[in-house]
Amino acid sequence: MITTTTWSVATFEAAVGDAVLAPSIHNTQPWRFRRTADGIDVSVDEDRLLPMCDPDGRAARVSCGAAVYNLRLALAVAGAPARWRVRPGGSVARLVPAGSKPATPTERGLHRQIRRRHTNRSPFSEAGVEPALMVQLVEAAAGEGGWLHVVDDETTVWEIAALTRRADAQLNADPAYVAELRAWASRTDDSVEGIGRSASGAAPHEAELMVRRDFGGPSRRLARDTTVSPVLAVLGYQGEHRTHEFQAGMVLQRVLLRAADLGLATAIYSQPIEVPSIREQLRLVLARAYAPQLVLRFGYAPTTCYTNRRSVRDVIDR
Ligand SMILES: Cc1cc2nc3c(=O)[nH]c(=O)nc-3n(C[C@H](O)[C@H](O)[C@H](O)COP(=O)(O)O)c2cc1C
Repeated sequence: MITTTTWSVATFEAAVGDAVLAPSIHNTQPWRFRRTADGIDVSVDEDRLLPMCDPDGRAARVSCGAAVYNLRLALAVAGAPARWRVRPGGSVARLVPAGSKPATPTERGLHRQIRRRHTNRSPFSEAGVEPALMVQLVEAAAGEGGWLHVVDDETTVWEIAALTRRADAQLNADPAYVAELRAWASRTDDSVEGIGRSASGAAPHEAELMVRRDFGGPSRRLARDTTVSPVLAVLGYQGEHRTHEFQAGMVLQRVLLRAADLGLATAIYSQPIEVPSIREQLRLVLARAYAPQLVLRFGYAPTTCYTNRRSVRDVIDR
């Protein structure tokens, strides 16, 4: 007799409903979920890769890793946690049941943030972030096997801002990159993928310290956000192979959920990661052994518009 040891359909679908709320590059949602006889497979959706800004699929793997982290939390909160492994090649994560166990208060707290967390592209206030809060984010990254390098000296902040501006200019000089970005940005607010107009933020302004990616938002004069007080941090993993990129996504999501739990707004900048020579310069600036995976900024800002997701039905393989 063949027995299945996997989660029930109801638990699986509810967990996928949480998984898809993860961040993803341009909100492409490059993930597929499959309930198997002994667990759940989460794989990179090769049809949703971005050939111009993510030619080797690194950002898609990071996005999938973030979705897996949500999935793990949802299963833990359902009392049926998972053991997981990213398969060699880095395009599939396999989760198997690890018995039944009540969720910890930390897991419950992070799970509650899944629906609140969002990328914030509005100007951050000048208020600084308490160092004790940043320590908690560093611990969140370490807890998932990654690192969060908090940039606490102004010279390095300016250096990273300059690298980001150079990368952004270099990317924008390629009409194919711009066309790809336009295709995913400035969608109507009811679009189930890509970035809706209200979530795009204003058009980047030259006075901004950290140049935002131009998602086609309206030109608006920014009153603030030229300051160094919101905290800049760079996230990475202890390795830089494909499986590590997937795992970096789990680190990312744990940090983002912890930040949301602490009441912090988060902005994401991946332009300096997408230009290989600039990514290497960033690694050298930080004196890190492994290539960075994302640049983040934490601070205080009003909640902005949320992006939508495709339905659970659309991302499950039967
Ligand atoms: C690997 C990766 C790279 C990203 N790069 C950027 C970026 O350069 N600029 C930006 O504004 N958002 C960036 N984002 C955030 C996505 O645009 C965002 O997650 C997506 O639109 C869904 O919105 P949400 O995070 O508010 O749920 C990135 C997200 C991921 C996972």
